[in-house]
Amino acid sequence: MLRSAFLYLADQQQIFKFVRNNRLAKSFANRFVAGETLDSALTAVARLNARGITASLDLLGESVHNEAEAQLAGEAYITMLDRLHEQKADANVSVKLTAMGLDISEDLCIVIMHKILARARDCSSFVRIDMESSEYTQRTLDLIEQRLYPAYPQNVGIVLQSYLFRTFADVERAILLKARVRLCKGAYKEPETVAYPEKKDVDSNYIRCMHELMLHGNYPGIATHDEAIIKEAKRFAKENSISSDRFEFQMLYGVRRDLQDKLVREGYRMRVYVPFGTQWYPYLMRRLAERPANVAFLTGSMVKEMVGRRRR
Ligand code: FDA
Repeated sequence: MLRSAFLYLADQQQIFKFVRNNRLAKSFANRFVAGETLDSALTAVARLNARGITASLDLLGESVHNEAEAQLAGEAYITMLDRLHEQKADANVSVKLTAMGLDISEDLCIVIMHKILARARDCSSFVRIDMESSEYTQRTLDLIEQRLYPAYPQNVGIVLQSYLFRTFADVERAILLKARVRLCKGAYKEPETVAYPEKKDVDSNYIRCMHELMLHGNYPGIATHDEAIIKEAKRFAKENSISSDRFEFQMLYGVRRDLQDKLVREGYRMRVYVPFGTQWYPYLMRRLAERPANVAFLTGSMVKEMVGRRRR
């Protein structure tokens, strides 16, 4: 119920207009979003790098309404790549195709993505294409496989979501292509016709896909805060002699910073997804929707961190 309510709220732009300057909403947002400007995001990246953590920078904003907005978003990504390069930051970028005009025209989206990927290649960087709701899955994978990946195999990667029934087959396809995959559980409201409704099934599909990617994939990103899954990834790596430089853990900005630091101390690679920008509202709602106890969890994770810091 709560999940559906937050996911419904994520689509209500008029509520965003109302909460944009609300102090409580902003303080929640500050926990998950690295500010509204590129400068504030770059500061967050520098702080992560100082903790031994790499980053993936995401300019918040979903489906754009016209070509000019899509072009602007594309230019913002080129500036991000340039600034990360100048700063010698250990970070790449994450992009949503709908923010690059996918809903307006596939050709427009491809032209913009080629510009971003060409700059990423020049900066020896990498662009992760986030996965959106299931109505975009096939289009996103087709565009990447047919029109982006062949030209930039070293610079572009995909995201697969374990809540979808189709995902194990997509994992196998990505392995054949040698494409880099970030594996996550999935953050959108999906019908039972395409996605597992039960968390236990999402989790077991995650583990099945993760094993396959760790054994045969190209440097998979294990994107989760789920301690049981992280423990399983470590166990599986050890059992199969998969060294810690063959995969990376990924988490969201502001979530389980204690666990992020612990993994770094244990010698694992850790990347944090750093969203920034003025369009933080739908992102924040999806974070709150992630599980019914999420609002309470927000408070809980802050307490855990404070206690952890006192113990060390
Ligand atoms: P799960 O939801 O089962 O949570 C496990 C535990 O993690 C919780 O019990 C809690 O301790 C902690 N936790 C989880 N979410 C939290 C939160 N918001 N605040 C505080 N604690 C939290 N999705 C998508 O559809 N497309 C995408 O492209 C991406 N990209 C992406 C990148 C990265 C780096 C990450 C980490 C995640 C994504 N996601 C995503 C989001 C993902 O699909 C999923 O919704 C969240 O990661 C939550 O799922 P967990 O795997 O953490 O497990």
